[in-house]
Amino acid sequence: MTAPLLEARDLARHYRLPGGYLSERGVVRALDGVSFTLQQGRTLAIVGESGSGKSTLARQVTMVETPTSGELLLDGRDVARATRAERRRLRPQVQMVFQNPYASLNPRRTVGALLEEPLAIQRRGSRDERRSAALAMLSKVGLRAEHYRRYPHMFSGGQRQRIAVARALMLNPRLVVADEPISALDVSTQAQVLNLLADLQQEFNVAYLFIAHNLQVVRLIADDVVVMYLGKAVEQGSKEAIFENPQHPYTKALLASTPSVHRRRRDSTSSQPANAIDAAPCIGHDRGPSS
Ligand SMILES: Nc1ncnc2c1ncn2[C@@H]1O[C@H](COP(=O)(O)OP(=O)(O)OP(=O)(O)O)[C@@H](O)[C@H]1O
Ligand SMILES: [Mg+2]
Repeated sequence: MTAPLLEARDLARHYRLPGGYLSERGVVRALDGVSFTLQQGRTLAIVGESGSGKSTLARQVTMVETPTSGELLLDGRDVARATRAERRRLRPQVQMVFQNPYASLNPRRTVGALLEEPLAIQRRGSRDERRSAALAMLSKVGLRAEHYRRYPHMFSGGQRQRIAVARALMLNPRLVVADEPISALDVSTQAQVLNLLADLQQEFNVAYLFIAHNLQVVRLIADDVVVMYLGKAVEQGSKEAIFENPQHPYTKALLASTPSVHRRRRDSTSSQPANAIDAAPCIGHDRGPSS
């Protein structure tokens, strides 16, 4: 087996709550020792209910934050301990697609400008080359050349997410972190965007870290699955193993829950507290800012 594109080793990210310094009390263990590997061109699904630490993991992988402890290896290099210059070099290889394409696309920029921006920032290609690259990418995500001059508000939710995916792929990244990329879309568009992501993976050999609330959502796209609960991976394995032979009661509960597209961010799959502060043994009764 080739060396993994991404490897997390006992990765943790803790947050201090205001006034919580000098003690273990008031520390949120948002990500609490997670290990996994992801191969080039494959998809690792991260599944768990609200507050389980999925977006915290995404922020470590996209190098927006620095892990509290553990290792995070991209191509064998520990990004957590990389120098600033090294991170700047690695960052274009990891791109992000967010849950809400209404919020993630600057409404004042045309689709063409949105797609060309990552190339312009990286000073890649001439103006004409960037334009051709944007037009080519538009067609790959199922949009047309005439969309190049339009603004995000002129598109449906599904089309906007196509634009967000196109933008994420402009730098030809090796990894795309997609944080609930279809949960804000209506049912009819969800499968289309999932299929598009699967097609683009074939074409670009890009790996996905695909985050979802719901196990059913990842059935189509995942190769491997990590089930998270309160910052920990309670179960992980191949998609087949997780779906056909789930071991952990929480995984079974997630499998039993019906997928709901209209589930809001803060809803949870069970009535259990989905908050690291409520459950972590050393935390006492402090409550987090976003509980
Ligand atoms: N900057 C922060 N400061 C303090 N606590 C935080 C911070 N960011 C996240 N948390 C806490 O860490 C835990 C995990 O949050 P995270 O956003 O990673 O969950 P999630 O799985 O992405 O949830 P959702 O499905 O709602 O998006 C939560 O308890 C949250 O309140
Ligand atoms: Mg999240």
